[in-house]
Amino acid sequence: MLVVDFGAQYAQLIARRVREAKVYSEIVPHTATVDEMLAKDPAAIILSGGPSSVYAEGAPAVDPKLFDAGVPVMGICYGFQAMAQALGGDVARTGLSEFGGTDVDVCAAGVLLAGTPAHQTAWMSHGDAVQAAPPGFEVLATSAGAPVAAFEDRARRLYGVQWHPEVKHSEHGQTVLEHFLYDGAGLAPDWTPGNVVAEQVEAIRAQIGDARVICALSGGVDSAVAAALVQKAVGDQLTCVHVDHGLMRAGEVEQIERDFVAATGVNLVIRHEKERFLAALAGVTDPEQKRKIIGREFIRVFEDAQRDIVAEAGAHGEEVKFLVQGTLYPDVVESGGGEGAANIKSHHNVGGLPDDLTFSLVEPLRTLFKDEVRAVGRELGVPEEIVSRQPFPGPGLGIRIVGEVTEHNLEILRRADAIAREELTRAGLDGEIWQCPVVLLADVRSVGVQGDGRTYGHPIVLRPVSSEDAMTADWTRLPYDVLSVISTRITNEVREINRVTLDVTSKPPGTIEWE
Ligand code: XMP
Repeated sequence: MLVVDFGAQYAQLIARRVREAKVYSEIVPHTATVDEMLAKDPAAIILSGGPSSVYAEGAPAVDPKLFDAGVPVMGICYGFQAMAQALGGDVARTGLSEFGGTDVDVCAAGVLLAGTPAHQTAWMSHGDAVQAAPPGFEVLATSAGAPVAAFEDRARRLYGVQWHPEVKHSEHGQTVLEHFLYDGAGLAPDWTPGNVVAEQVEAIRAQIGDARVICALSGGVDSAVAAALVQKAVGDQLTCVHVDHGLMRAGEVEQIERDFVAATGVNLVIRHEKERFLAALAGVTDPEQKRKIIGREFIRVFEDAQRDIVAEAGAHGEEVKFLVQGTLYPDVVESGGGEGAANIKSHHNVGGLPDDLTFSLVEPLRTLFKDEVRAVGRELGVPEEIVSRQPFPGPGLGIRIVGEVTEHNLEILRRADAIAREELTRAGLDGEIWQCPVVLLADVRSVGVQGDGRTYGHPIVLRPVSSEDAMTADWTRLPYDVLSVISTRITNEVREINRVTLDVTSKPPGTIEWE
């Protein structure tokens, strides 16, 4: 199923909702020609909403050829209007714009609205409206500002709605999408994690053949699931490398070393390089400098590991040709949706890899959204602690210590962080929080009283945030009783901490991490 992106933020959401209906979907830009779209052999097409007016100069139009190809099409919002215009309907400004929850009256259920109530609330965002449906179409619904709010031509399998069914505020949105997919386009809900694994395993085998492949395992979800997929496909041809920079949280290296290996059977090389990283970070407090040092050392260690693997494989007459990368679908879409040889991205979750790598990339998660990656991970038996892990920056705790990164400071932070994570999990809040950095203000001290004595300890900052994509974020309103337990436990159990503070800043202006 193809989603044609008309430039709004909704295309990814549509693609996700379609996948929630267990139908595989991909996004193409509206600048793709009809031939390019049809070359993908789509079973159905959705035209997304967009910011333009169909009458604006340079507004993206739909080539009417698309509707003659025999492929079922559904237009949404702008896509609905562009469809109406291309097929001879009438689109004009009614003078009544509709934004937000809007009452819609159903006049004929048709395929799209079958079984939904005669009056329903749908999420609208439009100034123009379809005044008259194109010839051959039946009008299914109207609203105050949209004389034609939904239509369909069942014979030609063309459908459209003015509202946004992909938005949760549209009461019956998912039902409308499913009616289009299952009843309008005759698709089956068979895109499941099990099928994704089977397809990917086959594709990876075809790509890699009997060559050797390496993977940098950060401990995060993406690289773990990518590695598990490649392991399932080519087994011992894969070697994973984990660079232990000493900046991970409590228990994380052990989780990779023990649980991940037990669950997947991967060959894992761990380079224990804590001393090297700490020596390079000694005396450094500037955040950018810390990031650069960690990135640089990471590359050096990874290159050493890679050299060793290549040399060992070479001794057995084998060639190491491939590198596994955990690139996700949103990255692919945001970088232009290009296919083929991808560049290694600079914001890599293990801190940036060298530009001059001569490997070809294996990117088994290129078509997946994050929640789908988690589902595939579960299907593969990757431990839940890893699959459900929240985002964690490549430079690790190194950028969560305001001040010098020393073994002592790391130990304090690790203990406080472990308590916060444990209590958030116990309170069942992990699903509500995007992530919760715990930050040690090693450069700050304040006076406290613990037991009978005066203390002069460090503050800890809790930074719980809610976010869709980490580009913007709001601080999560955690229940006071949970905050209270975290605060009490940290100050009781971590002697060096005598104050727990809560960061109540959104992003922007604050970033999620403190450094
Ligand atoms: P900021 O602090 O920029 O963080 O609001 C946005 C998201 O990115 C994560 N982050 C990183 N991830 N390498 C990473 O892999 C990094 O250097 C890095 N810095 C920040 C951060 O945890 C948040 O999810």
